[in-house]
Amino acid sequence: MALKGPLSWGSVISVMVAVGYYWWSSHDPAPGNSQGEALKKILQSLLKIEEKNPLDHTPRVAVGYGGCLDVVVDASDVFNFTDRDPVWLPKHHGSIQSWKELEEVFLYFFQHGAAGERFVANSTTWQEVLMAVERIKGRETIGGNAPVMAARFRKEGCQVLLGAELSAKLRANFPADVKISSSGREEDDVHLIIEYPFADTWGKYVAPRANRFIIHSDRQNPKVSALEPFHAALESFTADVFIVSGLQMMDNFPFPEGERVERIIKIREQMRNTSAGTRVHFEMASFTDENLLRDLAQHIIPYADSLGMNEQELPILFAVLAKEDLAFVSDAYPRIANTLDTMRQVFGFLQGTEEVEGRRKLTRLHVHTLAFQAIMVSKGSAWKNTMAATAKASLTANRHVCGSEEVDVGKAKLIMDESFTTSGDETGSKVYLDEEHPIACWDEGDLEICIAPVLVCTEVRQTAGGGDNISAGGLVLQI
Ligand SMILES: *[C@@H]1O[C@H](CO)[C@@H](O)[C@H](O)[C@H]1NC(C)=O
Ligand SMILES: *[C@@H]1O[C@H](CO)[C@@H](O)[C@H](O)[C@H]1NC(C)=O
Ligand SMILES: *[C@@H]1O[C@H](CO)[C@@H](O)[C@H](O)[C@H]1NC(C)=O
Ligand SMILES: *[C@@H]1O[C@H](CO)[C@@H](O)[C@H](O)[C@H]1NC(C)=O
Repeated sequence: MALKGPLSWGSVISVMVAVGYYWWSSHDPAPGNSQGEALKKILQSLLKIEEKNPLDHTPRVAVGYGGCLDVVVDASDVFNFTDRDPVWLPKHHGSIQSWKELEEVFLYFFQHGAAGERFVANSTTWQEVLMAVERIKGRETIGGNAPVMAARFRKEGCQVLLGAELSAKLRANFPADVKISSSGREEDDVHLIIEYPFADTWGKYVAPRANRFIIHSDRQNPKVSALEPFHAALESFTADVFIVSGLQMMDNFPFPEGERVERIIKIREQMRNTSAGTRVHFEMASFTDENLLRDLAQHIIPYADSLGMNEQELPILFAVLAKEDLAFVSDAYPRIANTLDTMRQVFGFLQGTEEVEGRRKLTRLHVHTLAFQAIMVSKGSAWKNTMAATAKASLTANRHVCGSEEVDVGKAKLIMDESFTTSGDETGSKVYLDEEHPIACWDEGDLEICIAPVLVCTEVRQTAGGGDNISAGGLVLQI
């Protein structure tokens, strides 16, 4: 597809070579390099870039919305796999009324190894589930995108305001200097994360892969109840960046007619109310409801300066903006050229052509994939240090998944190709991975683009919260 208007661009390679700062060579990699050696060199240069770009000021970051108590339990304990066979057959339900429906919908996702999340609409059933689970003693952690991002920003040296309704118990997870605009709750909403490993077996059903099924009966987070208490705090905080996240809680929640869009418009007003000095970042997530996605595309996304998302979410956002049919299954290992083409188009859609008050022009787009990190910013915008931010995001991905600050190349592999084209059409140039200078950055018309390989962790310790840590890690150096 051809690029038009301000996004068209000339010879990328010549710019890259001329500037010299840019880090990829246009030569083939030395033959016979073992991956171990390559990984070591890539890690060294990523660490060097990180070391050379410490945070030298204290950015003020406000993060909304919400949070909950995640209780992680094994499916075999919840359903008692060893002592009893399933009574019911797999069946799909949009929400859960009874133990029968819980078992049916769990089996439905379990037999496909698919991730699922469902609302338990019957409060009696929910209380019974919580009581049954109490015996199991699950692992408790703070849940929700906003708290994870807030913790990451604080760790990196930011002054943080978190918009979440949390109990004193969960608030105690944060250092005292993290401001939390909570009206004070006695109890947290519990989200039960029911995990199962690959090949877990219940009766005649076998899980084809490891995954999780989540249930909750949370009526606060889907309605974004943290929004109103956040208002005054946000106004006096004078944030450099305001992060909007956690809206996927609205997905699959049985709202009364019209109430969801009403809440979305309130969020939009909070985004529009921030001063021009505050940049707004919207963190995408896995949405499955088309109407919700269309509401977000109309009311939320055009009011953000910056967007963060993964490789699954990018094609969905593109389809919504292009008003195409949505396909919820996409390539888990997209080619860099295709990802960049989609990013350019998303950028093009969000240049704020419609004259609506408070509407913003997109100036930053970060896509994190398993194999690589891609950040695209408008030249001359307030976002700085794009190369260092890409390095930081890449290191954060490994650190989070491996669960260790120290990156061990013995537990990592490269799955990014040794070369890529910058575009899927005939305008693309070929770029080769240079281990000594592993981050490719180049200018393209009004855009600056950087790509970093990820040292993909092979001994996975945690995946949940990865995107939040990575997005926050990438943002922090750009503020
Ligand atoms: C599992 O089910 C068996 C048979 O119904 C029961 O005897 C046992 O107590 C149950 N175990 C748990 C942990 O619920
Ligand atoms: C709600 O759950 C209770 C207890 O499990 C059950 O007796 C009742 O029938 C359920 N209500 C509906 C509408 O399914
Ligand atoms: C936006 O700002 C106006 C004026 O300060 C205020 O009255 C209103 O409540 C704010 N709305 C939101 C949603 O923050
Ligand atoms: C990501 O965030 C979670 C929650 O704050 C934390 O437990 C985890 O260690 C973080 N990852 C990294 C790499 O710090």
